[in-house]
Amino acid sequence: MKKAIYPGSFDPITFGHLDIIERSSKVFDEVVIGILNNSAKNSLFSVEERLNMTKMLTEKYDNVTVDSFDGLLVDYAKSIDANLIIRGLRAVTDFEYEIQIAQTNKVEYPELETIFMTTALNYSYLSSTIVREFASYGGDISRFVPEEIIPMIQAKYNA
Ligand code: PNS
Repeated sequence: MKKAIYPGSFDPITFGHLDIIERSSKVFDEVVIGILNNSAKNSLFSVEERLNMTKMLTEKYDNVTVDSFDGLLVDYAKSIDANLIIRGLRAVTDFEYEIQIAQTNKVEYPELETIFMTTALNYSYLSSTIVREFASYGGDISRFVPEEIIPMIQAKYNA
């Protein structure tokens, strides 16, 4: 059984992430979205908020589950008995960082395979950072994230 982890910060989840999730769900038997609970990183959303948003937006996929983890990804992968990691690649600028992480993870856990999925062309510019930046200036983010989570993002900047 091919059980893969799609790890990330998802702060917030975007159409780019959702595209990778949908396509991954067709390739792997089980996809676990692993949300990094990184207390050192200044996240816009708490891990609970990110879990709830991601669950709401992916509940239609029977073989997709949402979980959070802290610490090293390799330890989390071992703990849930998964040896496949999915990462989206948008452009060549992502490559250097991604290959470094993938190779470090493989040194630590040789059975672990990282599979890169190219992001859909229409989302190749998109990132959570762009969404936060746009939202912080009151910009229209409806092209970047599903409408269900727009009020939650806007609320962070209207508080
Ligand atoms: O969405 P992101 O922020 O690009 O995701 C990065 C993530 C969560 C995949 C990466 O930072 C990660 O795996 N962090 C956990 C700690 C770890 O294992 N780091 C990689 C080895 S240095």
